[in-house]
Amino acid sequence: MTREWDAATYDRIGAPMTRWGLAVLERLALRGDERVLDAGCGSGRVTAQLLERLPRGSVVALDASTQMIDQARERLAADADRVEFVVADLGRPLPIDGLVDAVLSTATFHWVLDHDALFRNLAAVMRPGAPLVAQCGGGDNLARVRAVMRDLGEAWTPWNFAWPDETKRRLAEAGFDDIHVWLHDEPTEIPPAQVPDFLRTVILGTNLLRRAPEEREPFVGAVAERLADGRLDYVRLNIMARRAGRGPR
Ligand SMILES: C[S@@+](CC[C@H](N)C(=O)[O-])C[C@H]1O[C@@H](n2cnc3c(N)ncnc32)[C@H](O)[C@@H]1O
Repeated sequence: MTREWDAATYDRIGAPMTRWGLAVLERLALRGDERVLDAGCGSGRVTAQLLERLPRGSVVALDASTQMIDQARERLAADADRVEFVVADLGRPLPIDGLVDAVLSTATFHWVLDHDALFRNLAAVMRPGAPLVAQCGGGDNLARVRAVMRDLGEAWTPWNFAWPDETKRRLAEAGFDDIHVWLHDEPTEIPPAQVPDFLRTVILGTNLLRRAPEEREPFVGAVAERLADGRLDYVRLNIMARRAGRGPR
């Protein structure tokens, strides 16, 4: 399932995701001339830093949200000749010509429910030996938020917060080797004034679409009231793997 994101609001409040994303980018060793897929590029803040590390290379900036791609296109306008923008669902075969030399993905995979399909679709566009460096929500991510949602009668969630063992198995089955997957706690404080925007735009965005329009703001308000301190118990699933097969390193 994919949805449109309010890209302008995300861009304004997405500092935690950008911070985590830049730390993940540090794990991707690059020569500077590769073609790299940013899988779920959002508004392009991390993509911009990725591009800086590719002075002779290029980026495929892919996202399911047209608004996010438009925002990324604006941000990356100065380097437009080195960016291919693609609106696509990572849960389906990817409409990318040729192979990429690496995949980076930050704060995105948990929005794709079928991780078997996700990893197969990525593997299909990666050259043999290409690295996959990613991070998303995993394990007990946002347990406090989920408990609040349940208390308010919202049992359904749109996320796949996967665990390391199942992720390692899925990666191996999809054609990856050199697989490292681990969880780490990332407790994060959102400025209290931003809590409603954060819930509306990021965490509850998909849940809200299942509610009648007049129920959406009261639901955001009820969750926000219970999370007024802005303390979010994020847990991140870290992934490093390599597309199996021999290729130039
Ligand atoms: C929290 S944002 C992360 C954006 C960016 N990577 C960052 O770290 O700031 C999650 C992004 O995943 C995208 N997304 C969610 N599900 C997707 C899917 N099935 N296929 C492609 N992109 C998806 C959303 O549109 C959104 O832009």
